[in-house]
Amino acid sequence: MNKNRDYSFTLKQVEGLLIGEENIISNLANISAVLKADHNFFWVGFYIVDGNELVLGPFQGPVACSRISKGRGVCGKAWQSGKSILVADVHKFPDHITCSEISKSEIVIPVCRKDGSVMAVLDIDSDQIDDFNLHDMENLEKVVFRIQEKHGR
Ligand code: SME
Repeated sequence: MNKNRDYSFTLKQVEGLLIGEENIISNLANISAVLKADHNFFWVGFYIVDGNELVLGPFQGPVACSRISKGRGVCGKAWQSGKSILVADVHKFPDHITCSEISKSEIVIPVCRKDGSVMAVLDIDSDQIDDFNLHDMENLEKVVFRIQEKHGR
């Protein structure tokens, strides 16, 4: 059974990083590193909207797919719907894109501009089935909210 992770230190670090730097790529890179260091996620990173595709952005973990079409996979669906998606078992998710056979569950949070359009998604994968819960979703949405406040123009 999954447990509630402690995100208080993560949120403090994200806030500190965002205050100190204006460049979004630099911030997304360091936020990926904070999430990896604090929670040891199997894969954590950002896909950035590029025309009608998502392109791989800053991440921590194994090599991943570089492009995902809108509506494809969990990331593409989170982009299309503008809503967070929690997948307990990726093998039961229709159209899941397998970047690594090791990945078993995942959570994807859209990063939106002030006008509501999606500019990127935060994608986190686990090597355990059912590793994410609503507590993760709430706290990762807080991380993303802080990115939006800084960069969501
Ligand atoms: N899990 C994603 C693909 C990206 S990788 O897992 C890093 C998806 O199905 O959207």
